[in-house]
Amino acid sequence: MRILTGLQPSGKLHVGNYFGAMQPAVKLQDEGDAFYFIANYHAMNTSENADELRENVREMAVDFLACGLDPAKATFFRQSDVPEVNELAWILSTVCPMGLLERCHSYKDKIAKGFSPNHGLFAYPVLMAADILLYDSNVVPVGKDQKQHVEVTRDLAGKINDKFGKDLLVMPESQIRENTAVVPGLDGQKMSKSYGNTLPIFGPKKKMRKLIMGIKTDSTPVEEPKPIEGSIIIDLYKLFASEADVEQMKADFLAGGFGYGDLKGRLWEAYWEFFAPMREKRDELIADPSYVDRVLAEGAEKARAEAAVVLQRVRKAVGLI
Ligand code: TYM
Repeated sequence: MRILTGLQPSGKLHVGNYFGAMQPAVKLQDEGDAFYFIANYHAMNTSENADELRENVREMAVDFLACGLDPAKATFFRQSDVPEVNELAWILSTVCPMGLLERCHSYKDKIAKGFSPNHGLFAYPVLMAADILLYDSNVVPVGKDQKQHVEVTRDLAGKINDKFGKDLLVMPESQIRENTAVVPGLDGQKMSKSYGNTLPIFGPKKKMRKLIMGIKTDSTPVEEPKPIEGSIIIDLYKLFASEADVEQMKADFLAGGFGYGDLKGRLWEAYWEFFAPMREKRDELIADPSYVDRVLAEGAEKARAEAAVVLQRVRKAVGLI
């Protein structure tokens, strides 16, 4: 079973990325042949300059390794180290109806947020389809916001297979975990870099504490019961705490006598403790930059060899050779 997922290096990784994609990816590396990559071509759509992009790629590599990606089990690489993906993207784009891309939420959202509607943003799902299909991927662990893109991938694979040969491209499935499909941000909307409501996985202690203690709450007095339905404090706490601790938190909300400051303090502690082992590993990785370079170079070599086989098959089938 080939498992594949990618993350964009467009700023700090956040808790939504972790629970939506990274944690499932780390679990799946024990269950199949995993390919995980840093989507730096995709990030060019929103990147400010070359140095920033390079820096973000390195940081993401360190962070993903710190979070448990094991290069002895999974192939870890930079998207742009396998430029063959662009050729497959082109081939896919020749069967891709405009309407399919026009319906994509992520494109519509970006335009609504004021991004200029360039071709890179528009064609983004075609490149993502090529990422997935180039490695004969079976399973794609992602958060819910990427489901539509995997559907587009399946559509395009179907069109290519109809036209050029039944089993040419492998049909992938998204894998979305129900309870972390949409991790909420600090304001209760979906956690997203573009909403400015993210809780980073790694960040300075004081600053991270301030983010959590700054979560907006209602004005229920300390001694009164507090609503648990839709509470962002509880929803985030569930990610980090044991079931028993979550039940205790809910009971304390309902009992009254605990102020929001106290309840948020518990969330803060659970968050900080959860990522403690990853922080430690991250410090080790930062101290050894050549290790990270080596991992990415080896990953690129393996990914490229795999991609060459699939691309050769496709080139033959579509009449390019
Ligand atoms: P990106 O970089 O926006 O997000 C990386 C992963 O994190 C998940 N995610 C979330 N999951 C749950 N709750 C949230 N609030 C949340 N925010 C983000 C995303 O669903 C994603 O799984 N297009 C992709 C990158 C990509 C890719 C691919 C993924 C490029 N090619 C091929 C899979 C396969 C993206 O922009 O993800």
